[in-house]
Amino acid sequence: MTFSETLRAATWSDHESAEGESYLKELMSGRLSAEEYGEMVAQHYFCYLALDGAAKRLAGDPVSGGFVFPELYREEALVRDLETIYGSGWRERVSPSKSTRTLMARIEQVADWPGGYIAHHYTRYMGDLSGGQFIRMELQKIYGYQKGGGVDFYFFDEVGSLPRFKNEYRARLDALDLDEAAQQRVIREVKLAYQLNTEVLTELLHTVRAAA
Ligand code: HEM
Repeated sequence: MTFSETLRAATWSDHESAEGESYLKELMSGRLSAEEYGEMVAQHYFCYLALDGAAKRLAGDPVSGGFVFPELYREEALVRDLETIYGSGWRERVSPSKSTRTLMARIEQVADWPGGYIAHHYTRYMGDLSGGQFIRMELQKIYGYQKGGGVDFYFFDEVGSLPRFKNEYRARLDALDLDEAAQQRVIREVKLAYQLNTEVLTELLHTVRAAA
């Protein structure tokens, strides 16, 4: 098996936990208001400030630099989405939740280790480029958002063909010089990344329910 195949197989049960998270189920079945959907967009905003912030610092790194893609950066798209959902005063309305702060701190903590940065980058971006595309189509049906604000986070116009990009990404994972122990360490970080991202979703559901 290639490393990308091993990684996917070793973490697919973690993916299923993330995918099955109740906030996403509520969201996908159209039971949340636009403002309640916006709570997740806000958490994405802070998560990507950390992730893309790390990427910008790592562009010249010989290993991590291969996983720095300016065409993926999400901040501008997330700002457009938040403006659309909450209006021009969105900045006063959003703050990172406790779980998001934990995720951001972990991204910062491991960013100097290429395997750590890549683990968090893979977990978010390969997800956004895969299941994220399905999520966008559902959100567009539910809320009627068009390109330009609302679900721009899920549009990757500068990437071109998403399948081609994902194949290239997997080829880069496979080209990493990792022995068995190093592979296992990256896999453990991806599992942690799934867990931390899932906790963000769990906290969101509590927030939404507490406010209802
Ligand atoms: C409704 C929720 C979700 C659905 C329906 C979904 C669906 C999918 C599907 C169908 C794939 C495979 C695509 C392919 O092989 O090209 C995929 C891949 C992936 N998803 Fe998700 N997903 C969801 C949520 C998430 C979440 C919350 C995360 C992480 C926080 C995530 C991370 C990933 C990753 C990293 C991959 C790439 C796996 C690999 O091929 O190595 N997904 N998702």
